[in-house]
Amino acid sequence: MPRIAYVNGRYLPHRDAAVHVEDRGYQFADGVYEVIFVVDGRLVDAPAHLARLHRSCASLRIAMPTSDRALEAIVASVIARNRIGRGIVYIQITRGVARRDHAFPRIASRPALVVTARTHPAPDETAVRSGVAVVTVADQRWRRPDIKSISLLPNVLAKEAAREAGAHEAWLVDDAGVVTEGSSTNAWIVDRDGRVVTHPADTAILDGIVRRTLFRLANEASIVVIERPFRLAEAMGATEAFLTSSTSFVVPVVAIDGSAIGTGRAGPVTLRLRDAYLAHLGRAAAAR
Ligand code: PDD
Repeated sequence: MPRIAYVNGRYLPHRDAAVHVEDRGYQFADGVYEVIFVVDGRLVDAPAHLARLHRSCASLRIAMPTSDRALEAIVASVIARNRIGRGIVYIQITRGVARRDHAFPRIASRPALVVTARTHPAPDETAVRSGVAVVTVADQRWRRPDIKSISLLPNVLAKEAAREAGAHEAWLVDDAGVVTEGSSTNAWIVDRDGRVVTHPADTAILDGIVRRTLFRLANEASIVVIERPFRLAEAMGATEAFLTSSTSFVVPVVAIDGSAIGTGRAGPVTLRLRDAYLAHLGRAAAAR
């Protein structure tokens, strides 16, 4: 079955799906995106992702290309046409096509909408639970990573540095030594009292949807979460560390820059939170 992508009003075979060479997303990374997990053909935490998409567009003064209802229908159609049971939906909105000029087009361009989907098989739980290594790199991003912009060059370079170092993720460290987040994940540590610490959702990080869901799930499990900046030195001495994202959920971090964190194995708080999140995914699938 051929993969189908949605591009500006048309459903096309994936290999033929293309945008114009003067799309401002292509030329200026002038656009935003969302990645949403799909379980049993249903979006996980769709309202939160949609709200963030609205916020990202509004921050860049890009008009939403469709109504929410139309967008939901397009996404549902892409999921159905690609027969996605468990997978990932990618939504990208750019300012659209215009003659190359840095400032916004004088006559407003029509925002471009692309929706793709692909299957994402369940990970090997035993492997995930053994944890991953991260390396640290300087946080070289602009000062508004709270906007889910497609301008991801520093994130790309950070992830490549991690890959070349044989690590799973790169944690970004700012000039003050604070770990802001990962290249495509939020960063968390657990202190010796079992409290979970993560960077506040100010303009320095992307406020992850999993991050928000985990606040609620932690609260239900009587696990205390504190939003405050933490430095790399504190992370190195933490009892546990983990990362979160829509595509990886909750993943134990067992080494940073080659040094073991805590016991060097996934910790109990992290594993409880992963279990709680997997249960949340199950409920998302069941809610029909
Ligand atoms: N990344 N921080 C950054 C920089 C991210 O790119 C992401 C998501 C997250 C986690 O956000 P959420 O919990 O909403 O997935 C944090 C997506 C998955 C990506 O770019 O592929």
